[in-house]
Amino acid sequence: MSKRFYITTPIYYVNDVPHIGHAYTTIVADVLNRFYRQSGFETFFLTGTDEHGNKVLQAAETAGKSPKAYADEISALFRDLWPQLDVSNDYFIRTTDENHRKVVQLILQKVHDTGDLYFGEYGGYYCFGCERFYTQGELVDGKCPDHQKEPQFIKEKNYFFRMSKYQDWLATYIEEHEDFIRPESYRNKILSFLQEPLEDLCISRPKARLSWGIPLPFDQDYVTYVWFDALINYISALDYPSGDAFQKFWPVAHHLIAKDILIPHAIYWPTMLQAAGIPPYQKLNVHGYWNIKESKMSKSLGNIIRPLDVKEKYGLDCFRYFMMREMTFGLDSNFSEDALVQRINSDLANDLGNLLSRTVSMVIRYFGGRVQSPGPLEAIDAALREQALSAAREVEVFMGEMAFNKALISTWKLIAKVNQYLDQTAPWSLAKAKKRERRLASILYNALESLRIIAILIFPVMPQTGIEIWRRIGLEAQLQTQEFSQTKSWGQCAIGSTVEGGKALFPRVEAPKAEGQVG
Ligand code: MSP
Repeated sequence: MSKRFYITTPIYYVNDVPHIGHAYTTIVADVLNRFYRQSGFETFFLTGTDEHGNKVLQAAETAGKSPKAYADEISALFRDLWPQLDVSNDYFIRTTDENHRKVVQLILQKVHDTGDLYFGEYGGYYCFGCERFYTQGELVDGKCPDHQKEPQFIKEKNYFFRMSKYQDWLATYIEEHEDFIRPESYRNKILSFLQEPLEDLCISRPKARLSWGIPLPFDQDYVTYVWFDALINYISALDYPSGDAFQKFWPVAHHLIAKDILIPHAIYWPTMLQAAGIPPYQKLNVHGYWNIKESKMSKSLGNIIRPLDVKEKYGLDCFRYFMMREMTFGLDSNFSEDALVQRINSDLANDLGNLLSRTVSMVIRYFGGRVQSPGPLEAIDAALREQALSAAREVEVFMGEMAFNKALISTWKLIAKVNQYLDQTAPWSLAKAKKRERRLASILYNALESLRIIAILIFPVMPQTGIEIWRRIGLEAQLQTQEFSQTKSWGQCAIGSTVEGGKALFPRVEAPKAEGQVG
């Protein structure tokens, strides 16, 4: 079977402009997509926007626009942002796309035909922020724990999905598939949620109250509930039911979300799929929240950080590196400019930037910029090679576990090792002794060879930096086309090719002023 990988982000609501929270999930998806591509997988990477429902309608009204015109505008902000963050999505879906509408209606009809939808009346506490009903037990002090607002009591006639019917199936499925929801803390949350009786899911809204949605195919007085509509994007984008893409990629679907939308993805979505006769996704990967000074990013607190502001001030790869290095996947993290500046100065300017510039400048100084063939490996060289090969092995394991920070730590241990190797072998003193030219050539070759491996290892996280290192150490073939397996062999640098000096990869930056905030 050929190797394939399908990665999705949530489709973002168009009631707000993109911030670093959206950027994080999408960059993680991009890192995975690039890593799997490097590893020889055929991949498909999906992102997009979620455009129906109350929230969007209200935001459009506030802006004095029609919901479609408003959605077009904000959706374009997301779509146009991604290439500026070097995000390499294959497709951008909008829930207002005609094809998506058709697939949603097809699934609704299918589930209706099997008798899993019924008409009834329900009264419950609805959080408009989450666009879902809450049970009393889920509320904290009578408020939605996520939005800190009292939900509104709503009672009306609607269509319901017999979600309760799938409770036992879902609990057993999760028990039997250890990695279906990861990290484990979120899996445990869902398993304990499933200890309580599961309620049926209200999947419609009366058009009289909300017209901005996809009409139910069997009752024109109703539109589809926004989550039932949105979740289906993951298969409508693959041209379900008959698309080649669906056949190829659905069996290897990895969803990526933050903890805020765990319930819809871990409970609603698998049961919807089961009712529609579609196998479950392969994995749900759940990360924590980026906070600012320990509090939630929110418009009302005025602490929202825009990714393009960070890019402009510090550079894109610094931003991507920081996000991937700083957060432990699954846990919350703080975004602080101080921490970002510190990482840039120490990890990037000092460790990686210096390594490249000292290596390349010695090749220029001692060998006119030409890569020389190395002599036999001495013990210290073999230790360096061993560290490079083991860094590559570790990165592969950690990427598979979504432990991006650990993958970067392994890579930076290698970077430190190469810097130490240069300090210990002191090529500058060998250069003074005529007879040691061969040894000097070997040492510089080994440093270049380590940099070649480092370029491949960092490429998913810092594509531009990887490419720049690749070019400067005199490698010609495109880094984008290099397989990850190229990190597993030593001695691939091209003898006789020319290295290139140049500006520092990462200029040192000043610490921000006390209350500094990007933007
Ligand atoms: N439209 C729904 C998702 C439907 S998916 C079928 C939605 N949209 S959202 O715009 O609110 O996006 C929520 C997602 O944005 C989170 O799950 C996460 O991926 C990202 N983030 C938003 N704020 C975030 C942080 N502060 N920190 C980390 N990620 C954040 O929910």
